[in-house]
Amino acid sequence: MCGTVGMFVGCSALSYCPRRLLAGPAADSEREAGEDAAEDAGRDAARTPGRRPVPEPGEYRSPFQSWYERSSVRSAPRRTVGDGDGAAGTPADGPEDTGGAPRGARAGRADATGPVGGAGQADAGAEAEDGTGPGGARRFFPPELVPVTRHPLIRALPATVFDEVLVQHLYRYLDFTIKLEHLVVNRTVLGIAHGSVGVAVPEEMRLDAYKMYCDEAYHALFSADLAAQVRQATGIVPRLPGEPFFLRRLREISAGLPASRRPLAELLFVIVSETLISASLADVPGHEGVVPAVTGTIRDHALDEGRHHAYFAHFLQRLWAQLEPGERRAAARLVPRLMDAFLRPDTEALRAELTGYGLTRDSAEQVAAEVYTPEVLSSHALATSRQARRYFRELGAFDDAQVRDELAAYGLLE
Ligand SMILES: [Fe+2]
Ligand SMILES: [Fe+2]
Repeated sequence: MCGTVGMFVGCSALSYCPRRLLAGPAADSEREAGEDAAEDAGRDAARTPGRRPVPEPGEYRSPFQSWYERSSVRSAPRRTVGDGDGAAGTPADGPEDTGGAPRGARAGRADATGPVGGAGQADAGAEAEDGTGPGGARRFFPPELVPVTRHPLIRALPATVFDEVLVQHLYRYLDFTIKLEHLVVNRTVLGIAHGSVGVAVPEEMRLDAYKMYCDEAYHALFSADLAAQVRQATGIVPRLPGEPFFLRRLREISAGLPASRRPLAELLFVIVSETLISASLADVPGHEGVVPAVTGTIRDHALDEGRHHAYFAHFLQRLWAQLEPGERRAAARLVPRLMDAFLRPDTEALRAELTGYGLTRDSAEQVAAEVYTPEVLSSHALATSRQARRYFRELGAFDDAQVRDELAAYGLLE
């Protein structure tokens, strides 16, 4: 087996030794062998007229040429939440002073349990021209990027509770980032660095994977650091789901696959997330009314992810060229589901969060249903995944009618 993966991240990584799994599926080998044989036998039949040959990968041009000078981990300052940040009238007391109570509790949280959305209530989502909230306080996340804040029932919440909605969104985003980087992306990046993912790459790409490993570890660190600072500054305790939705979805998708396909699914998920993520990060830094530590952190992340995006767009070409036709078809059929797993919001957790602000279960249902309509979900997924889908399309991954059906089922077909 490939010892390096296990040596660095512990025994649990043995379940993810991609080379071992790809080379010798054990537990369910008979069923898988049958499936693979059937797929390979049907390979030629599946080559429908007009199907393109798999393009050869182009030359690798490293996006990490100036990494030592420009990456966040090497050059960006630590982003710190300042005294003047955050909602007016809620100075930083520190967690020991607040006993960990949410700021809403300190600020008269009972307000939040009263009727919401009534006539004459102030619009807590109102913004000054500079993007700050009422009273000129900088916000912890731009409301326009938190879809529920458009709903009248949320805008009618007391201002302190509305601010908490934004802070909880920031916590969720940071938690998502930490788990994505540590638990998923860096496992794959480690495998590329050590040559154990079953995809041959030139040495320069392996060295660049070492750099990405540092980047992602730092992204997890600065996310955890920022969350801790925001908690100290606001006293708002994070209310997070047990695990981010994408991890649960990824586990479910993986569990439904034969063991030999699971490493490929994880590899594809990383390619998908790394080519989607920079699109999803691009919107935040321009918001003037947001706490600078938040915009600075997200800007740092977006700059690094621009390099990762270019790397994984190229890595995908190499992966595709090296897959057997049966594996390629199986991979293509996984892509829409994996994109959906990354992009779909966790509406179940959202409903639980909203009832925590004093909304009734019916109101929480109403907000979730009215904000996340199928049209909204689809247009967001289409916009965010446009470039990533283009990479797969150019490789012929979407030539298969079954893949197009899957894309349509997840609202990803234009
Ligand atoms: Fe990252
Ligand atoms: Fe990345």
